Amino acid sequence: MKHDEQVRLLKQLIHQLDTGTNLDAGIVLRNPASAYTCPDLAARERQDFFLGYPQMIGMSGDLPEPGSFLTLDEWGARILATRDEEGRFRAFLNACRHRGVQIEAQPRGKRKHFVCPFHAWTYSSGGELVSIPKPDHFGEIDKGCHGLIELPALEKHGVLLVHPGPDGVIDADRVLEGLGPDFDDWGFADYVHVASDVYDMPLNWKLAIDTFGETYHFSSLHRNTLFPIFHGNVQGFDHWERNHRMILCVREIDQLRHRPESEWKLRGAGFPVYWLFPNVIFNVGRHSITVVRVVPHPDEVGRSVSHVSFYFDPDELGNPQVEGTPEEFFETFAAIIRDEDYVAASKSQRSAESGLQDWFLFGRNEPTLHHYHNTYRKVLGLPPLEEA
Ligand code: FES
Ligand SMILES: [Fe+2]
Repeated sequence: MKHDEQVRLLKQLIHQLDTGTNLDAGIVLRNPASAYTCPDLAARERQDFFLGYPQMIGMSGDLPEPGSFLTLDEWGARILATRDEEGRFRAFLNACRHRGVQIEAQPRGKRKHFVCPFHAWTYSSGGELVSIPKPDHFGEIDKGCHGLIELPALEKHGVLLVHPGPDGVIDADRVLEGLGPDFDDWGFADYVHVASDVYDMPLNWKLAIDTFGETYHFSSLHRNTLFPIFHGNVQGFDHWERNHRMILCVREIDQLRHRPESEWKLRGAGFPVYWLFPNVIFNVGRHSITVVRVVPHPDEVGRSVSHVSFYFDPDELGNPQVEGTPEEFFETFAAIIRDEDYVAASKSQRSAESGLQDWFLFGRNEPTLHHYHNTYRKVLGLPPLEEA
């Protein structure tokens, strides 16, 4: 990001601090509680947001070298993502062409070949069927026509995108609108995967996303965790058609007042948080990114699974000047997001499911929540949220 833009974003935050203000959407909206409980809505979301739309499955650092692989079991389909021998990102159904058995069970790793556990048909990292045992007994088949079923896959700005439909189209510029240039500037394509975790929680996937959408709650819910590090109820916000960027305000920003603007850097004093429609949050620290992909549970509307992955700037890995280890950061992230935000949001889920509370409110200082929900609604052809 250009230095002028970094200074502009930091000055916005300092102005809010100096004037005791926050973002102001000028309106309070009400969101129906049924947004988090309605099975018909969940079915439409599943089709329009997940099965019918390109999915972010990871970062380039998840597939660091030829032969690297990653598996997912989401949206009703098992996926095997690989970096093939030529270094290209590929995605396949993780299903053998003989009788459909899952060919790779490990979540990630590196292999030259994938051997199906049932009858040992063997595939390359490029999905070609390389060999089958006892071909004279099995019978003639054209190996060239029996490679793994391939899905559209595209790698751009350090992000891995897969379309769950074999005939789907990925328009990466549209999908990553607004985010791509920042991700390039931050060098995310080179970031190294450090650790991953899974939080399976009793809350609708959108309630999980909502917890990332404002800092109004920092001084209460995160009083002893984030609030000593961040100024609460202060943030920047820019949005594009479907995606957006927030800038959270780290208390470190107070030190900038004593330094020349030429030395100001956004990361460290501000904390960018990007939302990639429909379900991915990128939390950008000084030297790290923590990516949260929130996936709806296939059977329970009030349950979701957050796949959390932590990546680190390769130039700073092992640098003793960097505060805390990646492992410590990752544990702290779970203690805050899973044990504070998601626990609170799971109680919202209970209230929604009671049927006794018809709506929740999104304040003037929560424009990010206005944008999330009105974007979801627009994609489904629903009218915008009503004023409270
Ligand atoms: S199902 Fe894979 S080898 Fe038979
Ligand atoms: Fe939070």
